[in-house]
Amino acid sequence: MIDPRFALKAALGALDVARTMVLRKDDRPFILNHLVTVRCNLACPHCYVSGPEQVEFNKVRFPRKSEMNTEEMCAFYRQLVAAGFKIAIVLGGEPLLRDDLGRLLEVLRDHLYITVFSNGYLLEERVELVQHATNLFVSLDAPDEQHDVLRARPGTFRRALAGIEAVRSRHPKVKVAVNMTVTTANVQRVPEMIAFAKRLGVPVAFQPPTYDGQFTLDDRPHQVSAQNVPGAADVAEAFRAIRAAADGGERIIGSRAFFDLVIENRPAYPCFYPSYVLGPVMPNGDVVGCISGGVIGNVRTTPVPALVKTVAWQANAAAGPSCAKGCRDWGIHDLSAARSRRFRLDDAKRYAAAFVG
Ligand SMILES: C[S@@+](CC[C@H](N)C(=O)[O-])C[C@H]1O[C@@H](n2cnc3c(N)ncnc32)[C@H](O)[C@@H]1O
Ligand code: SF4
Repeated sequence: MIDPRFALKAALGALDVARTMVLRKDDRPFILNHLVTVRCNLACPHCYVSGPEQVEFNKVRFPRKSEMNTEEMCAFYRQLVAAGFKIAIVLGGEPLLRDDLGRLLEVLRDHLYITVFSNGYLLEERVELVQHATNLFVSLDAPDEQHDVLRARPGTFRRALAGIEAVRSRHPKVKVAVNMTVTTANVQRVPEMIAFAKRLGVPVAFQPPTYDGQFTLDDRPHQVSAQNVPGAADVAEAFRAIRAAADGGERIIGSRAFFDLVIENRPAYPCFYPSYVLGPVMPNGDVVGCISGGVIGNVRTTPVPALVKTVAWQANAAAGPSCAKGCRDWGIHDLSAARSRRFRLDDAKRYAAAFVG
């Protein structure tokens, strides 16, 4: 016998999907989320893309020879410019492993706001590759050499800091921020990280690990990396400190609505990521449906305007507002919250202040 509460929830969900499809049929994506490679020079235990248990999967599923080459990437990016995209989020794997990154970003430079995520290991010696980025997030999971342990490679902390300095001196227009992934090992160190980022003079973002959602591709393994998820009480305490610091004027990226979501451990929120974001686009051009977890198209074979009209795209996009995966990524949440009153003028101001400094 069907639980009546479940039946009601399912019916409301279906209604919501129907309403969304009718009301939002003209919504088109304007943000690219692109994993330019899944190769990485690190293998961080918590990582859902290129961590130790992903390495073999990646070699089979996304071998280097399957990656789009420079010409294909540039052609894809030119399509995005023509289609009026506004934001490109470029990550990996480690994007600085692509020698052609600078050329790729040059295509977008005058048209899109470009955010690059890097582990910083190669940043000092390859700083030219990020010269066209608007904004660069360098991962920093601890305010000292514990970072090397969390990133499983000695020297990573020192090199990330040297990379940040190199960007500041060589390409001062690129706005640098740091991103801390909050795991069991560093959840107690959030206040220290806030102080460290302040001394460094950069904004800081925090995110707890997430294992459902945008990068859940088919059978991508994540059993081992998921062991790094801290307990709810520890996460809540850490995010209370983050919220208090943000309220006190520290340069912390993320809305109050996002901090509250994490503190209260609310399971889900209406998500607009799948309608506004093209991606994750994998290195071979596959586009993953974050809700379906399967490949819903390929940018090599289908032009972007046609891809977003396909049934697979539309179904994934329409399911966003009732998605219950509850991704814990400030970017995804705040993109969605920005459509609602939960994202307040204060939040918009806070974002602006964090970036402008
Ligand atoms: C996937 S990495 C790619 C870019 C680059 N290699 C780096 O480490 O910054 C981008 C960010 O995602 C974070 N990340 C990795 N696995 C995660 C997970 N399971 N949940 C949340 N964030 C994760 C990383 O710590 C990093 O800050
Ligand atoms: S450096 Fe980035 S992509 Fe590589 S394993 Fe670590 S978090 Fe994942």
